[in-house]
Parts: sequence; C-alpha cells; structure tokens
Amino acid sequence: MAKPKSEFVCTNCGKTFVKWAGRCDNCGEWNTLVEQAVPSVAETAAAKSAIAKGQISGKKLSVAGIKTIIPSDAKARLVTNFKDLDIVLGGGILQGSVSLLAGQPGIGKSTLLMQICAEISKNHKVLYISGEESAGQVKLRATRLGAESDQLFFASSTSGNDIAKTIETGDYNLVIVDSIQTLSLAEISSAPGTVSQVTNCGNLIIRAAKATDTAVIIVGHVTKDGTLAGPKVLEHLVDVVMNFEGDRYGGFKTVRAIKNRFGSTSEVAIFEMNDTGLSEVENPSAALLAERQNTDGSIILATLEGARPILVEIQALVTPSNFGYPKRTASGFDLNRLNLLIAVLERRTKLRLSDKDIFINVVGGLKVQDAGADLAVCMAIASACAGRKLSEKYVVFGEVGLGGEIRSAFRPDQRIAEAKKLGFTHAIAPATVKDKFAYPVRDLRSTLIKYMNEK
Ligand code: TYD
Ligand code: MG
Repeated sequence: MAKPKSEFVCTNCGKTFVKWAGRCDNCGEWNTLVEQAVPSVAETAAAKSAIAKGQISGKKLSVAGIKTIIPSDAKARLVTNFKDLDIVLGGGILQGSVSLLAGQPGIGKSTLLMQICAEISKNHKVLYISGEESAGQVKLRATRLGAESDQLFFASSTSGNDIAKTIETGDYNLVIVDSIQTLSLAEISSAPGTVSQVTNCGNLIIRAAKATDTAVIIVGHVTKDGTLAGPKVLEHLVDVVMNFEGDRYGGFKTVRAIKNRFGSTSEVAIFEMNDTGLSEVENPSAALLAERQNTDGSIILATLEGARPILVEIQALVTPSNFGYPKRTASGFDLNRLNLLIAVLERRTKLRLSDKDIFINVVGGLKVQDAGADLAVCMAIASACAGRKLSEKYVVFGEVGLGGEIRSAFRPDQRIAEAKKLGFTHAIAPATVKDKFAYPVRDLRSTLIKYMNEK
C-alpha cells in the first residue's frame, strides 16, 4: 500500500491524525486540524535523537548594531494619491511590504486596487495578477478607470508557484494578487481556498516579496460574519491587514488597517463608489447630514471613525409588537449592545419597551463601533417612543453604563470641534467635558426629561 503523503495535525494540542475531522479527538477543539506533509521516518528519528542529546546544529547568528541598520522605509514609499488611504498605510505603500486587503464580494476591492495601480504605474512597474477574472474583464475595468499605462502589466493565474516565481524576478515594484483564495500550490493536493493552500501560498509569496523588496497587496475574501476567510496565521504573516467595509449598494465604504507594522491603526479612509470608480469623501459629516429631516427618533451622534470625528444621524423606529416576542434590529450598530441599552432604558427610565419592536439605523452605511454612541442610541429610542424631539442644533455623545449613568467618551474635543464646524450650537455630553459648548449630563433619566421636549 502506498504511504500517505500528508497527515493532519491539531494546531491546539499537536496530535497528528491520518484523516481530517471537524473536531480534534485528543483535545476536543473544533476546526483545529490542518494538513501537513508526512516527514520521513529517518528524518524524524535523526532529528529526535539530536535534540535529545542536546546537539545544536545551527550556526552563530550574524548580528548588527542597531545604530548601523538601514531602516526599511529609507526608500520612498509608493504613494496611492488617495490622501486618507496613504495615511491609513502609514504614508504610502512601503517597498517590500506585504498587505492584505479583505472585504465582502462586490465592495470594490478590485476597483480600488486598479485605481492604485493606475497611480503607481505612472512612475513604477506594476503587475496585476488575477485568479478570478479574465484579461478581457480586467481590461474593461482598467479602461473605465483610466488605468492604461505602459508600465502596468497583467497576468491571469491561479498558481501560487508561478506567482511567487514572477515576484522573485524583482521586475516589478508593486504586485497585486487578486485573490489568495483562488491560488494553489502544485505540491499540495487540497483545493484552493483551504487552510493549507492559503497559508503556504501566502508564505511563498511573502518570501519572494521580501527577497526582492517588491511591495505586494493580496486580496482576501471574508466570511459571512465579516472575518477574513482562511487561517488567522496569514494575518500574522503579512505586514498590513486592511478591512474594506460598508454597504455594497451605495453608501460609504471605509478602509481601515486592523494591523499595521509601519503605521497607526486608528486612521480610516472613507470612499464612495461612482461610475468612475472609488473616490474619497472630503467632508463625510456634511454629506451624511445633507438629507436629514428632523423627525422624532433622529439624533445626531458625534462619533469617531478611527481618529477622525464624524457626525452621523442615528435613527430609531419604535412600533408595537404584533407577536409576543418583540423584534430588535440594528443596521450599522451592534445588536448585543442595542439589547443591553434597551434593558438599561427599561430599568433606569420609565420607558416601557418590552412590548415594542425597535429598529436602529445608522445613516450612510457606516458601522458605528464607538462606545460613545450609547447615549445617542438611547435618546433616539426614547425620542421615537415618546414622539418627542431633541433640538436639531444639538449633537450627542457619551457612553451609558448599566446603572444608567453617562460616562466619558474619548477625544471629546475633536467631537465638539466637528460639531461647531457644521453649525451645531450645543453638545449633550458627559459631565467630565469642560466646554461651554457642552451641556453636561450625568444620568439617562434626567437627560431625557430635560432635553427631550420638542413635540
Ligand atoms: P469590484 O471592485 O469588482 O468588487 P470586489 O473586487 O470587491 O468583489 O466591484 C464592485 C462593484 O462596483 C461592482 O458591482 C461594480 C461597481 N463599480 C462601479 O460602480 N463603478 C466603477 O467604476 C467600477 C469599476 C465598478
Ligand atoms: Mg474582485
């Protein structure tokens, strides 16, 4: 009988198995088995005996004084000409860096990368490799986006080996790989997109990029819940991980770095899709508030997207439940957080919400992850429930504790500055904020009684 070429090893406890299983029999963890090549018997025996004897087979490292090392950003960064995206990247794409761009299908990953190619190919050699689309399809998009340069090249391939070899020639300053889930290595038998293919292709590409100082951007798909499909190890291997989020159909789309070895992770770039591709939104607050109608259930939240202040409208709709179990829906806001805030409202104020359906919407497709959004969500619900409004010249921010107390939110000064800039007169803010512009509030109940009074 032929010996099996690969085995499966549990990444949690290290036990090896002949067959793949969803759950490790040894430690009981789910989804931890990964495929690996079986080492030969002689290999493992020799290695074991050497390690047992304490023999050290390595050689002495060649070290360098930290003062004498040339920093890796000594070379000019590749500038994308998207002002905010360059800031997200920490000042442009570093040569020799490997970045991962993750996002839902149809969000605009290929579009954004083609636009980046168009800009960078003005001065550098750029190669776009697609495993998803044919040359003809990519050409259509490139024409539409005005990305036709003598220094922009295209290849269609799904072979990780070929792609790594091409990068290794060092002929290109920037290589785009669209997408990692379509690639496979000839040495590994599993299907494209599996853990071992993604990890090993990623590894090979990264090694080739580092060896030749080529900047590489890899596209990654995300699963339904928004996390990157495939193994977490890939995120550890690359230098930069960027998430492309937002509404697929219209609305704003954001790119933020969730990991960046060369820059901050608190910056964000906000884009809009139109028929000439993606463009950065200059003044997102103004665009977000342009269509506002001051009805009950509408509150303007002064929030932060990364380090950037933004004013966004929070809308709530409260209706009587038709069935026994009340329905709660949130778009752009965490549903668990919403349920918690509803519980706080019920317990700490006199609002009756247990027989009402509650819907929350963050206008413009933004996903609010700021704890300082709590007060605005609570006030929007109270406003919709009571049919009363807050003055349209007020913005709101602050975190709500389980006791119904209003807690401070970070960077209040920037939030207030943005509200002033857009012509608001006051902010309902935690009591810790010392500013004439702010109306300090301490607890939810008194805030609602005092400020929620316009019919
Ligand atoms: P795409 O970049 O292919 O998304 P992804 O690579 O993330 O799957 O395209 C996103 C959508 O954008 C697509 O449905 C068509 C649309 N689009 C425009 O509206 N304008 C444009 O100029 C282009 C190129 C695409
Ligand atoms: Mg694509």
